[in-house]
Amino acid sequence: MNHEIIEKHAWLMGALIAIVISVAGLVEIVPLYFQASVISPSPGIKPYGPLELAGRDVYVREGCYLCHTQMVRPLQAEVERYGHYSIAGEAVYDHPFQFGSKRTGPDLARVGGRYSDEWHRIHLNNPRDVVPESNMPAFTWLAKSVIDGPLVARKMTVLRHLGVPYTDAEIASAGELVNGHTELDALVAYLQVLKWHGEVAK
Ligand code: HEC
Repeated sequence: MNHEIIEKHAWLMGALIAIVISVAGLVEIVPLYFQASVISPSPGIKPYGPLELAGRDVYVREGCYLCHTQMVRPLQAEVERYGHYSIAGEAVYDHPFQFGSKRTGPDLARVGGRYSDEWHRIHLNNPRDVVPESNMPAFTWLAKSVIDGPLVARKMTVLRHLGVPYTDAEIASAGELVNGHTELDALVAYLQVLKWHGEVAK
């Protein structure tokens, strides 16, 4: 009898379907906000230093994520190629995270330490100089633009509101630490911290 009422009123059925789907969604999503393995940093993960943070913003601005993921999937082929698969606790200080979904180039989650700073500088300035068959674009302007120190400090203040534990002293000294550095320096510093920081396990 009740069932008939629902089946004869499309709007009622629609509303009830929406309620069922919302509850099911919330049951899956809400616990993630409280689950320690998702919201607490995994071993060795620290907030980005001022130069790395500035470099991360260059990465986002230049759209590196359009060709590069930062998410090693838990599949044997990926782990053998890149290193330990990515875990949620590595991305707690990333606002927003750079997982990406398109791999025109290789995944970068474990690129830190694989090449020297100098290799990255040459590669970013003209990828063909070190990888002749590369079709990655050249980012020649990065070596010419200087980082804005006070802006980096302001970004750190904003990130602190989002839960990144920067201290007053770190924010106060940020401008001086990035002073005189180019966007290329910052981007390379960022790339070099993208690595597996936890225990060595496979
Ligand atoms: C149009 C696609 C594209 C864009 C945009 C792009 N890349 Fe690449 N990238 C590639 C390709 C393809 C390769 C592989 C060939 C090579 O090493 O140059 C690569 C390789 C790399 C490598 C070497 C990875 C390894 O494990 O050997 C790094 C580091 C890198 N890119 C960083 C960046 C950064 C930083 C940016 C943004 C400033 C960027 N890429 C933008 C396509 C791209």
